[in-house]
Amino acid sequence: MNDRRDSLSALPLRENLRGKSPYGAPQKSVPFALNVNENTHPLPEAVQETIVGKVASVVGGLNRYPDRDAVELRSELADYLNAQVQGIDLAYENVWAANGSNEILQQILQTFGGPGRALLSFTPTYSMYPLLAAGTDTDYVAGTRGSDFSLTQESALEQLAEAEPAVVFLASPNNPTATALGPDVIEALYEASEPYRTMIVVDEAYAEFARDSTRSALRLLKGRERLIVTRTMSKAFGLAGARLGYLAAAPHVVDALQLVRLPYHLSAVTQAVALGALAHAEDLLATVDDIRAQRDRIEATLRELGFSPAVSDANFVFFTGVRDSQALFEALLDDGILIRDVGIPNSLRVSAGTREETDAFLTAMRRLAPEHVLPAGNGASAEPPATDSPTPDIAKDTTR
Ligand SMILES: Cc1ncc(COP(=O)(O)O)c(C=O)c1O
Repeated sequence: MNDRRDSLSALPLRENLRGKSPYGAPQKSVPFALNVNENTHPLPEAVQETIVGKVASVVGGLNRYPDRDAVELRSELADYLNAQVQGIDLAYENVWAANGSNEILQQILQTFGGPGRALLSFTPTYSMYPLLAAGTDTDYVAGTRGSDFSLTQESALEQLAEAEPAVVFLASPNNPTATALGPDVIEALYEASEPYRTMIVVDEAYAEFARDSTRSALRLLKGRERLIVTRTMSKAFGLAGARLGYLAAAPHVVDALQLVRLPYHLSAVTQAVALGALAHAEDLLATVDDIRAQRDRIEATLRELGFSPAVSDANFVFFTGVRDSQALFEALLDDGILIRDVGIPNSLRVSAGTREETDAFLTAMRRLAPEHVLPAGNGASAEPPATDSPTPDIAKDTTR
């Protein structure tokens, strides 16, 4: 492996790729894989049948390129969002789709980032952001959060003024902390970034799992041409393997992305699979309530055991108060349970799975807790993560 790494660095690589590692969450075959925030519920049979039917209907035409503009799919995605959040009135011209929201984020940077321009995000956050920046030759500014991982409006605005970025990525709910950002922070960042014409991107990969009081940034789109909201079918829809991400924005932002998208980037098969799944949106999203219940169980039990979990708006829980992250990670793996060490001392992240998977995780944690809880007052941080920006009196949103 070292030889390979040496050979790699001997290549005429672009300077900003030197020394970088590719995204590499472990893909281990274990009984309980709770490490990459997938929806672990298998697709219901009726949904599988519809998807197979949709795919069968395009197979005969695979000698031709697919619909380059994916108009039917974008219309269905707009309808789905309109049904989720009242009053947003999106048309297909407001929606763009690609192979996972990772590709959507990459296209945004290809369009609005690039050499001499900066991407700002607030760490800890989604580990792909710096890699997407490097891949598009965009400078990456690793903004910070408070010691409890919260992001206040004041701090966000200060860091924006310092960086004057071309693009800001705000994951809400954030990965790995699972906390959502208040619309007040997003609105303030949008207003304050007018002098720099910054594209403000809210990455809502986990929005469907949010608590009822958490609002989607989709409501802020009207009249804000520099605002983009990204979504994915990988999480709530349980379609991580199909690779379908999308965004909502002003129609001319969608037009701008056409300048960088590869021709026919979204295969006819991918479009058919996504259309089949959208036809069953209700059946697929039926698992969301169960996942939220398992997430709340994880949060409550970890707190009871002496750890400090964040209040989660996602399908996973981030917790601090771990004596040695790697040791607890390994102890769980010995039980066949794979969770995620995100590299933050004294912390780990676990996805909320089915009831059975959650039972397995919590049973192991009850046994392991006495040895692995960080004793109070030992100096290391066991501070519970806070909500990014609490907005207690906001109206109940239909978006989860
Ligand atoms: C915050 C966030 N955004 C985007 C993604 C990418 O999802 P996908 O490319 O599967 O749509 C992930 C995946 O884990 C994520 O955590």
